[in-house]
Amino acid sequence: MDRKDFLNSMGMSAAAFALLNCMGCKKTDIGSSPDTIGPSGINFTIDLSLAANSALLGNGGSLISNGLIVARTKTGSYIAVQRSCTHESYTLTYQSPNSRFYCPNHGATFSEGGAVTNGPATRSLTVYNTTLTGTSLRVYS
Ligand code: FES
Repeated sequence: MDRKDFLNSMGMSAAAFALLNCMGCKKTDIGSSPDTIGPSGINFTIDLSLAANSALLGNGGSLISNGLIVARTKTGSYIAVQRSCTHESYTLTYQSPNSRFYCPNHGATFSEGGAVTNGPATRSLTVYNTTLTGTSLRVYS
């Protein structure tokens, strides 16, 4: 007996079988990035003398580069975390007045150290190292 014969014997059409199979399905919106885990092997440099990177010259500024959010906190420290939310991978924004990363999709928030401060995300952000030498900001794993 093949699948079609089996379904016919059960009085079900293939469409009904497919619907039954999917009753436990959960819609997953993957947002603008497929990754909920930060990229590995990160090692790049941002030239702060370039106009394209001027957002990082002032406290509270941020930009996205190489799959990360690189930010300058309101106290002047450089930080870098994965840009995608650990919940369903939406792109985070840096909110310097609140010293946090915010996900506009479901409202998760993360501290500047990457810890979850509000769900539904449950996993911390991957945090990267930063070192400033002159006008060269190195970001690395
Ligand atoms: S995708 Fe960020 S909270 Fe859901």
